[in-house]
Amino acid sequence: MTDTDQTPSPRLKEVIGPEAIARRVAELGADISRHYARTRGEVVLAPVLKGAVVFFADLLRHLDFSPLVDFIRVASYGEGTSPGEVIHFTKDLELSIAGRQVLLIDDIVDTGRSMAFLKSVLLAREPADIRVCALIDKRQRREVDLVVDFAGFVVDRGYLVGYGLDHAERLRELKGICELIE
Ligand code: IMP
Ligand code: MG
Repeated sequence: MTDTDQTPSPRLKEVIGPEAIARRVAELGADISRHYARTRGEVVLAPVLKGAVVFFADLLRHLDFSPLVDFIRVASYGEGTSPGEVIHFTKDLELSIAGRQVLLIDDIVDTGRSMAFLKSVLLAREPADIRVCALIDKRQRREVDLVVDFAGFVVDRGYLVGYGLDHAERLRELKGICELIE
């Protein structure tokens, strides 16, 4: 560490390597393509900023149909993921979703509260359908009944970074998914 570097480097353990991610993202792209080929109609992909950006950029190029794309962003006030927290949009969708099929895409679903909030708000706009895709479905801390329709990897626990997932807005650039060891 140099004199000017004040943030200690966290210890990282790679848990999913870049090749395994690439293989799984290709499979997910094929699954999603097959699903929407059956349902027909317009599909709006709604990646959740910022964590989903890296995953989404790869996933998009494995789709064999041409979706509409619009980004969305939410933030929560209060004590992290406490039951009393308030979740709100900091960037809403710009496209109309009425009558369209929506696929929300996030990096990771943990308690499920953010996704459940998004789904409930967007359902009021009368889409034809809303589904959820997440690179990581982290199940142990789930607090709400939320199904991840298209999950890349299911994990039990651990704080993960890399491939878009951050720790205090850093480490998104890592090519693999790593567990942060405090
Ligand atoms: P939820 O509302 O608890 O499901 O929170 C989901 C959000 O928390 C994700 O979109 C991430 O931004 C963040 N998050 C939860 N677990 C992790 C993790 O292991 N690494 C990075 N971000 C996480
Ligand atoms: Mg997120």
